[in-house]
Amino acid sequence: MKLQLSKVDKRFGKVHALRGIDLDLPPGAKIALIGPNGSGKTTLIRVLLGLVQHRGEVRVDDAPISRAALAPRIAYVPQIAPQMAASCGDLVRAISELRGLEIHEIREIAMRLDLKLDDVASRPFRSLSGGSKQKLLIALALAVRPELLILDEPTASLDAEARGRFFELQRELAGDATLILCSHRLEEIRSLVDHVVALEEGKLIYNGDAAHYLAQRVGSLLELRVAAEDAGGGWLAEHGFAAGANGWWSRSVDREAKLALVPAALGALGSELLDLVVRDVDLVELRGESHRGA
Ligand SMILES: Nc1ncnc2c1ncn2[C@@H]1O[C@H](COP(=O)(O)OP(=O)(O)OP(=O)(O)O)[C@@H](O)[C@H]1O
Ligand SMILES: [Mg+2]
Repeated sequence: MKLQLSKVDKRFGKVHALRGIDLDLPPGAKIALIGPNGSGKTTLIRVLLGLVQHRGEVRVDDAPISRAALAPRIAYVPQIAPQMAASCGDLVRAISELRGLEIHEIREIAMRLDLKLDDVASRPFRSLSGGSKQKLLIALALAVRPELLILDEPTASLDAEARGRFFELQRELAGDATLILCSHRLEEIRSLVDHVVALEEGKLIYNGDAAHYLAQRVGSLLELRVAAEDAGGGWLAEHGFAAGANGWWSRSVDREAKLALVPAALGALGSELLDLVVRDVDLVELRGESHRGA
């Protein structure tokens, strides 16, 4: 499904949530929609779904957007699960009838996410834990095999294992569908998308290749634990590491520095090196890190 936004603008009273967004998304694109809290991501998604009035134009496959025509072609997992009183069984039956799905297929996808449909069938949807709600909504959305899949922070309530299973499923089932994934997580951007659209205060600040975006914006935090403060004859302090608690030292690094420093540390510290951790950090987060260190 091809999506084209031109001069899309949205105000909520004094809040200018979207400021003249021009965006062309080719069919089959796998897109991460990113940006700080309040930058307009969910509003942009609601515009695409035809759920909010706005200025400017949205075209789908070269025709003006029509909510009725679009509905059968898309699946959407919202950021905040709706508080439905219906039982999970009724919900699954209603959606499978509406979208022509086989219930066993939904059951199998839910199972892969470690949610047993039969165990929750009689429970009201709203009584499920946040993670179980998210699993059920993801299972329903993936089972639809939509042309456009919109996921707004889909793994916010999932534990690490469920998140890994979701990545696997998404890669398996996504096929030619266009994916719009709203996310703050680097691991999701790395493993699920090839394109990044970044918003800031309602403005489009990046629209392009995901690898290029990540190379520019993602750094690492290199953390080493040593047996004694003067390990390696003071090598850590000389190389810009700051001392933390319990023998840990840390330093933020770009990719080049990381690749050079890891072998250098192994050589200089030898058996005095007890542990080594490399963590990816968004450069925005990295600035916060150095702040806290100061
Ligand atoms: N229905 C609404 N009424 C009034 N203001 C709104 C409404 N929806 C969104 N806004 C405002 O528009 C701006 C963009 O909100 P939006 O929810 O699109 O941000 P977001 O990028 O999805 O943020 P988050 O990362 O927190 O989910 C915010 O200032 C928000 O308060
Ligand atoms: Mg949002």
